[in-house]
Amino acid sequence: MTHDVEETLDPDDWKAMRALGHRMLDDALDYIGTLRDRPVWQHAPPEVKAHFDGVPPHGPEHPDEIYQEYRDYILPYQLGNSHPRFWGWIAGSGTVMGMYAEMLASSMDAVSGAFSFMSNNYVESQVIGWCKAMLGYPMTASGLLTSGCSASNLIALAAARNTKAGFDLRNEGMQNAKKKMTLYCSDEAHSSLQKAVELLGFGNDALRRIPVNDHLQIDLAALEARIKEDRADGFHPVCIIGAAGTTNTGAVDDLHALADISTKEGCWFHVDGAFGAWAAIAPESRHLVAGMERADSLAFDLHKWMYLQYPVGCVLIRDAELHRRAFSLTPTYLAHGEGDRGLTGVDLPWLDDYGFELSRGFHALKAWMTIKEQGTEKYGRLIQQNIEQAHYLARLVEAAPELELALPVSLNIVNFRYKKPGMNDERLDHLNKQIELHLQEEGIAVPSSVTIRGRRYLHIAITNHRSRKEDFDLLVREVIRAGNSMA
Ligand SMILES: Cc1ncc(COP(=O)(O)O)c(C=O)c1O
Repeated sequence: MTHDVEETLDPDDWKAMRALGHRMLDDALDYIGTLRDRPVWQHAPPEVKAHFDGVPPHGPEHPDEIYQEYRDYILPYQLGNSHPRFWGWIAGSGTVMGMYAEMLASSMDAVSGAFSFMSNNYVESQVIGWCKAMLGYPMTASGLLTSGCSASNLIALAAARNTKAGFDLRNEGMQNAKKKMTLYCSDEAHSSLQKAVELLGFGNDALRRIPVNDHLQIDLAALEARIKEDRADGFHPVCIIGAAGTTNTGAVDDLHALADISTKEGCWFHVDGAFGAWAAIAPESRHLVAGMERADSLAFDLHKWMYLQYPVGCVLIRDAELHRRAFSLTPTYLAHGEGDRGLTGVDLPWLDDYGFELSRGFHALKAWMTIKEQGTEKYGRLIQQNIEQAHYLARLVEAAPELELALPVSLNIVNFRYKKPGMNDERLDHLNKQIELHLQEEGIAVPSSVTIRGRRYLHIAITNHRSRKEDFDLLVREVIRAGNSMA
């Protein structure tokens, strides 16, 4: 069958679509402005899950009805990370300006990556430059905005592998390595590093998990001993990975010492600073991540402790040429310099030469607009505010006889448990899990729980610009109340 009328996906009724758009924006602002009045999260009941069964719609549905479905079945069942009492996992809480930026970026259907003449790439380069300046990383480094720190770790370790392999790895592949390459991190390091080493063909075994000291930082003597042992056994140590803020406890490895050992051993030094890197912008806390600026590569997120909407992470690589060499590939249809010659006079690199993706969303716009709107000083104050809130909560815990702190706070994470005299660890583990579930399911607050040295603790990770001291008062009250009623 042929059709005489040519079609488009643009609205038939622009006026009605405009009215719907205005309503959506008003509703979204109301939603953000009243977060505190709602439960932090609620589970999608079976009828909501059932709603998402079925075949694709054959014919059109009315936009108003689709929006209503969104309001009924999608909006109420979110993770809750924008709520002031969400601290369960390390998550961003979003900004209004960031929301506007996402809308504007999609109004242009903006794509970032290739074509250096596009303004998007100037914005991304500026945001990357701002990250370097804010974090004290060399301005000559290269960088890329990513979909998150998992991608940033992968990109950084690819550059590390190709640089340190000692042969043309891109061409010859891992099977031509004469010696097995090894990498080193603490046994508290993030699981995305394991995924990265697996994807890069090192194999999980090649990632040596080094034990931690009492502060849950990598044990330096154990690290050096393992490198020595590996060399003696014929392995080729290529990379040392430091944590600037571990997921479980916020521990920061001794980054200066790791930089020194990396230099001595001829290893690439990578730092996973997913959230912790941002301590560098709070003048009172900058010292906590000292040495990070010496890394050969640095991975971090802006969708965690810069509070921006998902997704946006970043990777910085000290030697821009090593970064480019790991990824640059130019098919003829993307030959540089033809389409953009003479248009700008600014010689920006094509950003797809610095990562594995060609087309990417315009992640930079929300960062650019929000950082301009708020300024870096205020951001520094917010980071400090979260760190101080962590210490405040730790003091509340220490003052309550029913509660026990797992270990002193090192950054913005507090781990503690409800305890009852005479209860063994196994029963306390179970009880604390029940307390966690109760707080979550009642929508009071969202902690998660982690196991530290074999014991389960409630886990409070504060990367939330909406939390206030009174939220932590309430948390402590509710944990004690729940514990007393369940124990
Ligand atoms: C220390 C650390 N590294 C890496 C990641 C992975 O980041 P993303 O979830 O943005 O991929 C996380 C996530 O929480 C993390 O805490």
